[in-house]
Amino acid sequence: MGCVSSREKGGGVKQRQNPRPPEVKRYITDPTQNSSSLLPGQVLQNVDAVSTDSKMVIAIFSYDAENKNELTFKKGEKLVILDENGEWWKAKSLSSGKVGLIPSNYIKLEESMDNKDWYFKNISRITAERNLLAPANKPGAFLIRQSETTAGSYSMSVRDVGPNRSAVVKHYKIRLLENGGFYISPRITFQTIDDLITYYQKQANGLCQRLGKACVKPKNAVQWDEDAWEIPKESLHMTKRLGAGQFGEVWLATYNNATKVAVKTLKPGTMSVEAFLQEANLMKTLRHERLVRLYAVVTKSQPLYIITEFMSNGSLLDFLKSPPGRRVQFPKLVDFGAQIAEGMAYIEKKNYIHRDLRAANVLVSESLLAKIADFGLARVIEENEYSAREGAKFPIKWTAPEAINYGSFTIKSDMWSFGILLYEIVTYGKLPYTGLSNSEVMARVQRGYRMQCPDNCPSELYEIMTSCWKAKPEERPTFDFMQSVLEDYYTATEGQYQSQP
Ligand SMILES: Nc1ncnc2c1ncn2[C@@H]1O[C@H](COP(=O)(O)OP(=O)(O)O)[C@@H](O)[C@H]1O
Ligand SMILES: [Mg+2]
Repeated sequence: MGCVSSREKGGGVKQRQNPRPPEVKRYITDPTQNSSSLLPGQVLQNVDAVSTDSKMVIAIFSYDAENKNELTFKKGEKLVILDENGEWWKAKSLSSGKVGLIPSNYIKLEESMDNKDWYFKNISRITAERNLLAPANKPGAFLIRQSETTAGSYSMSVRDVGPNRSAVVKHYKIRLLENGGFYISPRITFQTIDDLITYYQKQANGLCQRLGKACVKPKNAVQWDEDAWEIPKESLHMTKRLGAGQFGEVWLATYNNATKVAVKTLKPGTMSVEAFLQEANLMKTLRHERLVRLYAVVTKSQPLYIITEFMSNGSLLDFLKSPPGRRVQFPKLVDFGAQIAEGMAYIEKKNYIHRDLRAANVLVSESLLAKIADFGLARVIEENEYSAREGAKFPIKWTAPEAINYGSFTIKSDMWSFGILLYEIVTYGKLPYTGLSNSEVMARVQRGYRMQCPDNCPSELYEIMTSCWKAKPEERPTFDFMQSVLEDYYTATEGQYQSQP
């Protein structure tokens, strides 16, 4: 019997050794060894740069499949590694989409861009726009991200100046050459993305702007020690009062003389410590970019403190009400709606309920991103004027009829409130049902009355709003759907990418 070859049927493939590469031999492995038996910290010698999450490789030689289990590929072709067992790796070609085994010494890991300040990895087009529109960026600010539609290739987003000197963002596809190079316009190609950027930083050559600085990366919420949950009151140093609500004040504070936080103080008797702690333990597990992060609590003494992420631009309601000269434009308003819908879609997915969604409970970050605050808190407010639903403090105008009438709070009653919140957004913070008292609103809404389309509000957006106010809760949309509708509000009509310059 001769030696077993992979061409025999029945999966002798694993025993076949890597073919000798046509040129330089990069490494020779022990064929009995597979990568999963490497010692901790040990890496294969041919691994140039280990990128931790993407297993993208580039072919350094062409290879012709010798049986149907193998994959044919060309030098420069990009492949995604699906399984790294032994010398023959299972891979998917990004150009053909075919899957098969490849000799692992014919490929190299794609050079990692993770440390580049302009590389934003796998963010979506809409997140790229939000980041570039932050006030800290100037025209020409740019970032590179993985393409959402073409696996293995990249997109570049650039901040430009639009009509009336408004800030807009343009997107370009970075296309790949077979030999591993890159280009935006086929007229000029580059070995690396670094070269491409350096070139377009010297001249625009068809781009909307000459590239400037890398987009400012939004500051991540501070690192918070998971163990610091119930913290001593003494570790907080209150520096400035930020505002006051029905149940207490909100202060800017430093924790351990180092970390900036917001501290919400609750008037004694607002809620029972047990009920609060129970809910807070749930609330702290809700973590999302569009939710204000809950860091810690003080419950060993009164008043109770809730320690959260500090949001330097205050509440969305106050932000919307800024003087007309400083107001954001309509597209940004729609985007606020999309951001809030995104945060609420997360709450929906977690089977949680907000119960008090309104513009005052959305906060605005330094880079003008919206985050939802005070989720779940309303549930633990003690029976008083607030939860007594006809009480003066209860947010009647934001609350769905079934929640007012039967206390039926669901994600669908949150959707009702979201419709009112959209009204607040599009009117730059007008009080809903202006001129009507709470009891008048209750009575009228019950009979089918709804707010009219506000001035300057496009009918498309008004329709979205009224879909939140369907009498039957189950007929209202989901937040997941609402997020996609609002995110597509503009792109459904406009081309998303610039044509090749
Ligand atoms: N995390 C925070 N960062 C910055 N400002 C905040 C924060 N939380 C609350 N505030 C400010 O404090 C005000 C009062 O908040 P709150 O007590 O929740 O009452 P309300 O929600 O009715 O406005 C808010 O309107 C906002 O201006
Ligand atoms: Mg609030």
